[in-house]
Amino acid sequence: MTRVLMVCLGNICRSPTAHGVFRDLVRERGLQQRIDVDSCGTSSYHNGEGADANMVRAAAEQGIDLSDLHSRLLVRSDFHDFDLIVVMDGSNERNTEALRPAGNDTPVVRFMDFVPDAPSRDVPDPYYGGMDGFRNVVNLIRAGCGPLLDHALTL
Ligand code: 4NP
Repeated sequence: MTRVLMVCLGNICRSPTAHGVFRDLVRERGLQQRIDVDSCGTSSYHNGEGADANMVRAAAEQGIDLSDLHSRLLVRSDFHDFDLIVVMDGSNERNTEALRPAGNDTPVVRFMDFVPDAPSRDVPDPYYGGMDGFRNVVNLIRAGCGPLLDHALTL
């Protein structure tokens, strides 16, 4: 089993979307016995909360259900429990690396590096903007999850 962890700041917008889209793709490809996915945040600001209402709505517009997901904090044991850690932006990458246990070599990769023709290496944080920002996140995440799943299958 290859375990993939999606990470953003609050775990209420970008990483739950990546979690939900990736999970649907794993199911569609019948890979549930080979690939598992979870998500978390580098902050505990929204610990225990469901995904942001606008994020849930933008995902639902494209048939993706995020309603069961709840925010949790990234913890050091995640480096042992997961085989691939996927961060949404450079700030998440720095905050994640700061928690890496000594001697651990779990790969930390940037989600946008799997998005074809990506406009930036950051998935833009939609939290303070309008609905189009949330829809943009869904589109970017949908574009990157296939290549990311292909990569996870090589681990
Ligand atoms: P996320 O978005 O990291 O994609 O879940 C954010 C959610 C909440 C906050 C920042 C970003 N916040 O500062 O509360």
